[in-house]
Amino acid sequence: MFAPYTFARSQRTVANRFVVAAMTNMQSHPDGQLHPRELAWLRLRAEGGFGIVTTCAAHVRIDGQGWPGELGVFADHLLPGLTDLAGSITDAGSLGLVQIFHGGMRAPSALTGQTPWSATAFQIDRPGFEVPRPATESDILDTIEAFASAAARCEAAGFGGVELHGAHGYLLAQFLGRNTNTRSDRWGGASLKNRARLLLETLRAVRARTSERFIIGVRISPEITDIGIELDESLQVAAWLADAGADFVHASLWDAWGKTRAHPSDPVPLTTRFRAALPSACPLMVAGGVWTPRQAAEIQEQGADFIAMARVAIAHPDWPRRAQADPEYSPSRPPYTPQVLAEAGLSDVFIDYMRRWAGFVTDGKPAK
Ligand SMILES: Cc1cc2nc3c(=O)[nH]c(=O)nc-3n(C[C@H](O)[C@H](O)[C@H](O)COP(=O)(O)O)c2cc1C
Repeated sequence: MFAPYTFARSQRTVANRFVVAAMTNMQSHPDGQLHPRELAWLRLRAEGGFGIVTTCAAHVRIDGQGWPGELGVFADHLLPGLTDLAGSITDAGSLGLVQIFHGGMRAPSALTGQTPWSATAFQIDRPGFEVPRPATESDILDTIEAFASAAARCEAAGFGGVELHGAHGYLLAQFLGRNTNTRSDRWGGASLKNRARLLLETLRAVRARTSERFIIGVRISPEITDIGIELDESLQVAAWLADAGADFVHASLWDAWGKTRAHPSDPVPLTTRFRAALPSACPLMVAGGVWTPRQAAEIQEQGADFIAMARVAIAHPDWPRRAQADPEYSPSRPPYTPQVLAEAGLSDVFIDYMRRWAGFVTDGKPAK
């Protein structure tokens, strides 16, 4: 896991297989411009030895913003901040990826000033849920264009690539979902090919607008019950993404040792299932519950080429360096004091956000 890796198409080499996974952190300016505290948080992890550092989910259109203080990539006036961030990550020896996304039904009107839109109008049981309006053809085409121009902007800023956020129930996942996409046109309905069209067309458009040197990965979820994302379909989508030229596929598992709802007694780990679905030339990134180098090695043996880490990277910015020095490294786990998090480079805004995560901050929401 500490060996460098060279991506086939771009011929870009990263120092190792450890990745800071995308983490929303609320640290940017209200208008989407990069704030120095967001740069400082990511730079420290690049300096800490992660081969790849991914930004938070960053919105490609104003009507796609999911959270306050979210980094924006939707217009050229954001370029100076993005350029500083890319330069900072590169100078520290890491490869910077921007996670580009649109919130769809999860872009609240209180934030965007617009009614959220999605594949279709549907009702699901989530706190604060607003019934979205169904997308028009021009919403869809304009959004593909917005992803492509956001990616081109990220390349102009100096990032090594982007990760399309097709996971966790945001717009691209809403189009994939059986329950959230009951359209009767080529963008949805019973046919998985139609439901996957937006994601695949977005990937193709991003490829067409960026150079061969630019890495384009795609993150997907294996299952999301209420949206109607199912494992067998997700494995098929992963294969299509590889065929369409994704430079990596990222399976966001939350718990890489977990069982699926569809196959609770399946002895084959989810990582191995995704590996088997992909051609060997397409690297697999996996995230979900890795805290120690031993666990990382286990997931690698199951078939992952890259291990993406979120929660452990929050309090342990130099995890790769420590893990390389000590294979038995066992980093402290939450809850953390606000002081520990401040020492790990989190601003007050981010620490406050982490208080909402059960059992993460000593004076935050208690563990379940
Ligand atoms: C504070 C926080 C913010 C997150 N924000 C994002 C995000 O913006 N995009 C995304 O795809 N996943 C996001 N995630 C999920 C992580 O990328 C990761 O998949 C998940 O935490 C499981 O990995 P872990 O067990 O290493 O934490 C977030 C996780 C955390 C803890």
